[in-house]
Amino acid sequence: MTDRDQAWISDTMDKIREKIGWVSEKNKDKIPYTTNENGDYDDRSDMTKKWNADDGLNWWTNGFWGGIMWLLYQDTKDERYAAIARTCERKLEQTFSDFYGLHHDVGFMFMPTAVADYRITGNEEAKKAALHAANLLAGRFNPQGNFIRAWNDSPNQDTRGWAIIDCMFNISLLYWASEETDDPRYRQIAMRHADSVMTHFVRQDGSSIHIGEFDPETGAFVKSRGGQGYGEGSAWTRGQGWALYGFVNSYINSGKAEYLDTAKRVAHYCIANIPESGIIPVDFRQPAEPAWEDSCGACVIAGGLIELANHVPDIEKQIYLRPAVKILKAITEKRADWSHDCDAIVQNCTGAYHDRRHHFTMVYADYFYIEAVYKLNRTGIFMW
Ligand code: GLY
Repeated sequence: MTDRDQAWISDTMDKIREKIGWVSEKNKDKIPYTTNENGDYDDRSDMTKKWNADDGLNWWTNGFWGGIMWLLYQDTKDERYAAIARTCERKLEQTFSDFYGLHHDVGFMFMPTAVADYRITGNEEAKKAALHAANLLAGRFNPQGNFIRAWNDSPNQDTRGWAIIDCMFNISLLYWASEETDDPRYRQIAMRHADSVMTHFVRQDGSSIHIGEFDPETGAFVKSRGGQGYGEGSAWTRGQGWALYGFVNSYINSGKAEYLDTAKRVAHYCIANIPESGIIPVDFRQPAEPAWEDSCGACVIAGGLIELANHVPDIEKQIYLRPAVKILKAITEKRADWSHDCDAIVQNCTGAYHDRRHHFTMVYADYFYIEAVYKLNRTGIFMW
């Protein structure tokens, strides 16, 4: 890292502290996902909404607001952040009693909230909630195909045999549960899932599919699906981020060297496809027009590259750090809002290539952006 890079990191951290300082106070009783046309955060923590409302309490990104609070807490030691994170945690625990709306994304919900709380403060109540979530996730494992089932029953689609690349992040909850309980079952499930993903999702060229479909009775791999990317055979960028960073996480949590090699392959695919501008498209294989972007995928990829650099010999580190810094500088200089006009920092995120809506804010883009900048500065614990 050059002196100029260090100065840039330190300046960006100051901007983050300033922005999250007032944004957290303004939104302390909410669990936000995105901003409206006035730049105000919405609230996905309405406990009166039915479990199947997609803007209700079990919305999959609802752990990232608490995660941002824990990142800021570790940096500033301001108790206000811990209090806001715990308000969020108490609400998320209500999803256990509804049960039906919960899904494979309990890892995304409870790792940056309950597990972070327990790791940072030793809170036993948080540990209990996180173990409960880990058991729900383990219950989704199909031992025939060795995969964790994505999503729940749907009237329009038979998803019993579906697994998705995103789950490479959710399984961190299982590794953590094995560590805490000294019971290897959770880790074994996580590794079987990771092994299946290594075999069926990551292509020869290092890119990853989004959805893999197995026969839920025999476990045979049936086919890949395009999911949130441009189409079958394409390379949804946020999915490349889930694969790259997810395999690094699995390596850290299990020590299995093939996971690190797989993370490197995905990283090399990503690095070869980062545009000169550093602005990341929704899919690395999308047509030139419309030029839909996904700043959220950009931040996940950057975070994965930085974490990968922590686990390779010194001589290799810059291979991963240089493109990560390029991506984060592009976000900071061209796609970040530091004003009081918008509650979110990171702009121009996209949920899925074929959605009607593109280029909006997402709370988890802010989470992964802040996490990546802090990671560059070596501030805070490893969250996954
Ligand atoms: N995990 C879902 C997404 O990345 O949109």
